[in-house]
Amino acid sequence: MRLNPSASIWINGQTVTESQATVPVWDRGFLFGESVYETFRTYEGVPWLFVEHYERLVRSAERLHIRVSYSVADLWAVCLRMAEAYLPQEAYLRIIVTGGVSDIVLEPPHERVPNVIVISKVFQPFPAAWYETGAPVVIARVRRNPAFALDPRIKSCNLLNNILAYRDAAQVGAAEAIMLNYEGWVAEGASSNVFIVNARGVLQTPSLDVGLLEGVTRRFVLQLCRQRAIPIEETHLSVEDLQQAREVFITSSLKGILPVTLVDGRPIGDGTVGPVTRQLLRWYNEAIRAYVERVRAGGTPLPYC
Ligand code: PDD
Repeated sequence: MRLNPSASIWINGQTVTESQATVPVWDRGFLFGESVYETFRTYEGVPWLFVEHYERLVRSAERLHIRVSYSVADLWAVCLRMAEAYLPQEAYLRIIVTGGVSDIVLEPPHERVPNVIVISKVFQPFPAAWYETGAPVVIARVRRNPAFALDPRIKSCNLLNNILAYRDAAQVGAAEAIMLNYEGWVAEGASSNVFIVNARGVLQTPSLDVGLLEGVTRRFVLQLCRQRAIPIEETHLSVEDLQQAREVFITSSLKGILPVTLVDGRPIGDGTVGPVTRQLLRWYNEAIRAYVERVRAGGTPLPYC
């Protein structure tokens, strides 16, 4: 059975068929969830913010003492080739680096050989209505695991915390579940970061010390604001701050900038997509176009930030 007819899989240097695409049961990714990943999409076949994703993959892997044996240029070539096969459709890409095989013991072996996997498939866009009139989100009942227990900045394939939180969104057809940290501060979505325009008109996002993944898109939005002299605060936000905000949006590599107009069924601001979100969306789309042109002209995945 083929799970996704559009999927193409690359493992440790080889493009393989779905039935050949296997990882040993001894892999520590399977045994213990000891693996890291990155997800991103293409625009016109160009993997967006590839260098930033690669760098975060290496940082996450280092935290688990896993070495990524492929260079940024190696993985760029693999991803670009896989993505180009889907044109004119866009690709979803996921790079996974596992802990490699070992006996069933917590201590990793000294010499380990990580499995490196790239999965690609056709990118399925999110509902257009979400971008036009805003998406609904809920506050998850499950809290984000604190950095002193399992640092959310490690982008590990162990997504149990996120899966449990996302159930609350899935149950009511919401786009995302917003997770609070153990103290009740807004941390992030189950697979996105959160921004608000507060009642005074100031753009704000939870600071990293709240305990959240440092999203590539979050960083990109912060940089866009700095370049355009838009003040933005990284701070602590309460649920009331979110509910009383003029505007809310979430960001991720797949969703881009997604306006939010309902939190737990209550409208945000006047219930429509606000001017700051619209402006950022315009700048974001312009930046993507410029990046695609620059990469197409030079053929290399230049760092953006
Ligand atoms: N998710 N927070 C969490 C917990 C995430 O899983 C993600 C990304 C983000 C946004 O990060 P970025 O802007 O780098 O995509 C924030 C991806 C899309 C995923 O899990 O597939």
